[in-house]
Amino acid sequence: MPFFKPFALERYFAKHEFSARYLLSSSDCESMTTRELLALEDGAAERFLDQRLGYTETRGDPGLRAALAGTYESLGPESIIVHAGAEEAILDFCLACLSPGDRVVVNFPCYQSLSEIPRAVGCAVEPWPLREEGEGASRRWAFDVEGLSRLLGPKTRAVFLNAPHNPTGALPTREEFDAIVALCREAGALLFSDEVYRLLEHNPSRRLPAACDVYEDAVSLGVLSKNAGLAGLRIGWLATRRADVLDAIASVKDYGTICSSAPSEFLAGVAVRRLPELVARSRSLIDANLALVEAFLARRPGFVSWTRPEGGSIGLPRLGPASGFADSDELARRLVAESGVMLLPGSLYSYDPLSFRLGYGRANLPEALATLEAWLDGRTR
Ligand SMILES: Cc1ncc(COP(=O)(O)O)c(C=O)c1O
Repeated sequence: MPFFKPFALERYFAKHEFSARYLLSSSDCESMTTRELLALEDGAAERFLDQRLGYTETRGDPGLRAALAGTYESLGPESIIVHAGAEEAILDFCLACLSPGDRVVVNFPCYQSLSEIPRAVGCAVEPWPLREEGEGASRRWAFDVEGLSRLLGPKTRAVFLNAPHNPTGALPTREEFDAIVALCREAGALLFSDEVYRLLEHNPSRRLPAACDVYEDAVSLGVLSKNAGLAGLRIGWLATRRADVLDAIASVKDYGTICSSAPSEFLAGVAVRRLPELVARSRSLIDANLALVEAFLARRPGFVSWTRPEGGSIGLPRLGPASGFADSDELARRLVAESGVMLLPGSLYSYDPLSFRLGYGRANLPEALATLEAWLDGRTR
């Protein structure tokens, strides 16, 4: 019996990511070249060529950790551990901090690692469903605080919160967020806060604090893949005030990558020092693309609708009664084969088979959406 069940979304991407003409489900924002990144900081290109290629510190290059610490309100570099992307960080956290028999509560639907790795470790994983609430313009994905309070108990070791959320784009209100933190504190549970889409709130006034800044037992997860558009760097990190948690995670990292890639850490340092510019670039793409997506949805109300995402670079539309497809698996299968546009069906999240993930952080979204629409028109003609 393999330790992990296959990662459905990653297997699907592996099949189509480098062959489909258009990816209309990507969760990362548009990337850039090494040259473009280095040009953001005076002298960086020259210094990069002199970067030594030996091992780096297990917890991450001190300069990079200092830059990362500067993105939090109350943490110093000693509270950060760098990883190879967010993915390795989730794995190391789970291996270091969870034990067989622990109960963990996880947003549902969710990015599969957040439930599958705890399950593989031997935890009892309790899904905590998001709820669509309200009508018309006030319809949103709500974080069900009462539901969470019913799931928490003395054996709850950790709550996995992902906000802004993959795949819905849900974002808790400040009241929901504070209530989640208070419930974790009361239950004595760690809060693993996957914040990889943070800084991409569609209304910046809705931005929440990093969990590690407001809760002493929180571990915040960050990465440069999404808001900075630098997924190929494979640089993510965990931030927490819990020194014992960091020690345990560092011990696990010794059996994985040992340390992060030295060139990536250098480039990540430039990116973190220039984060506001990189995030502004991603956000302006998101704003422009969202307007196109909304116009598309408005033109085809019988085909599809969504509960509007409030943050991040993805959302979860749902096929309507007049879509002409049995489910989003059929849509995705035919769409990619006949027009080269890739969509992710909701079944990959073991979720609503009519739903599919739509990504709007890439520069070629206008062409991808136009190709989808031309294909739909061709079918109905
Ligand atoms: C919620 C969430 N967490 C973690 C990750 C992993 O990020 P990375 O691929 O940069 O390691 C992703 C990637 O899509 C994600 O959506």
